[in-house]
Amino acid sequence: MEFLAAYDAVPEDDVPQRVALLRQAMVTGRAALFAELRAHRPAFATPVGVFVTRHPDVLEVLSAPETFTVGVFGPALEDVLGAPFVLSRDGADVHWQERGFGQLMLAAEDAPRVRKLTARIADEVLDEAIAGSPDTFDLIQDYARLAAARVADAYLGFTGIAEETLHSCTRRMQWAFAVNPDRDPEIHAAGVAAGRELREHVAGLIARRRTANPGDGPDDVLGRMLRTRLPGEYGFDDERIGTNLVGYLTAYQQNATQCTAAALKELAVRPGVLAEAERAAGEGDPARFDAYVWEALRFHPFVPITPRLCVRDHVLAAGTPRQTVIPARSVVLACFASAMFDEEVLDAPAEFRPGRPPAHNLVLGYGAHDCVGRYAARVIVPELVRRVLLRPGVRPLPGAERGLDYAGTPFPQHYAVRSGRTAVATAAATA
Ligand code: HEM
Repeated sequence: MEFLAAYDAVPEDDVPQRVALLRQAMVTGRAALFAELRAHRPAFATPVGVFVTRHPDVLEVLSAPETFTVGVFGPALEDVLGAPFVLSRDGADVHWQERGFGQLMLAAEDAPRVRKLTARIADEVLDEAIAGSPDTFDLIQDYARLAAARVADAYLGFTGIAEETLHSCTRRMQWAFAVNPDRDPEIHAAGVAAGRELREHVAGLIARRRTANPGDGPDDVLGRMLRTRLPGEYGFDDERIGTNLVGYLTAYQQNATQCTAAALKELAVRPGVLAEAERAAGEGDPARFDAYVWEALRFHPFVPITPRLCVRDHVLAAGTPRQTVIPARSVVLACFASAMFDEEVLDAPAEFRPGRPPAHNLVLGYGAHDCVGRYAARVIVPELVRRVLLRPGVRPLPGAERGLDYAGTPFPQHYAVRSGRTAVATAAATA
């Protein structure tokens, strides 16, 4: 009870001290903190919200959007996007319609094509990164962010918008709505400005496509949106199409970039697992390889916690010994990163075991707001990792496998890998 003993020793009215302790534990020992909470205080009420840490309880919260709403970040997301979006509202209020639209536009059937284009783009970007750096390159800046942005261009349809714009705008937007718990006004303003910048680019792009190809355009998600005719009462005009497209990018670009780096890191810190994943990468059975990536991300999910606003009193885990009343107006923190290690649900959760039951992996969320881009995500992320593993010379620097550098931001910005150029050159000389 190391953390809880220290926390309980701080007087209840010393809120800053309690919050500081909590934040420190989140940064320096999140796994241990969650283990302690699951065992001793599974629904832990704090000044920043109620941490819900057990797997069934996280599912319960995320299955009840009429009680646990996205009202914690919804308004900030709408500021950033300039309009309501699927992830900013609940139920009959926008969400239901946008969700249906999203499922049609981000069609499951696209997956094989998206996998192929991801492979091609990833190889191109890797070639450029390796050619540009004799010894090492930055996996995030020189590879993952560029490859993710080019996939967004090719699949979602951000034609002609610079990769740097796509990446840097979504970084500021995501920071403002998703990881700005104190609502720092500068971070918020930067996110709002970035959202405006991206929306202006997209409005121009839509206008150009309407002029150039009325009724017929490129075979990408934006093209599909522009060709879709819905009854007028749905109100899917070009502005709403633009909001959705920008929203999809905001939900995707940073996630794909960071998941690529985090998965590689989680594999690299386990040399035996890395060797198995390398073999699976070369075997051509995507399901076998992909399981390594999703299991790696269970250890380092991009969204470790998602907040919800409890709008009516709710009895959580009713009828169990941990039954807890969550009062209306509480912020509830659904802790994916804890639920995925719930020892009462998962067998040996600390062990790396590819192919666990899908319900034990919450990397793409759960419930009413789970990832509507999941079919694309499920091929893009593993393929971005697989293309790296297919290059034996490109690996995290020995001894620095854990070295994700956040550079003072909420997301990893740099991850040094050796470029393998020397190895490739030597192999070519001796071939
Ligand atoms: C690349 C890896 C991805 C990861 C790790 C990821 C993760 C997630 C997670 C955890 C959520 C739930 C958020 C919550 O409950 O608060 C979510 C929702 C969402 N994701 Fe993804 N996502 C990815 C890719 C994508 C892609 C490719 C798209 C679209 C092109 C997308 C669009 C969305 C949208 C629109 C939502 C909100 C759905 C709703 O509110 O009903 N995501 N994603």
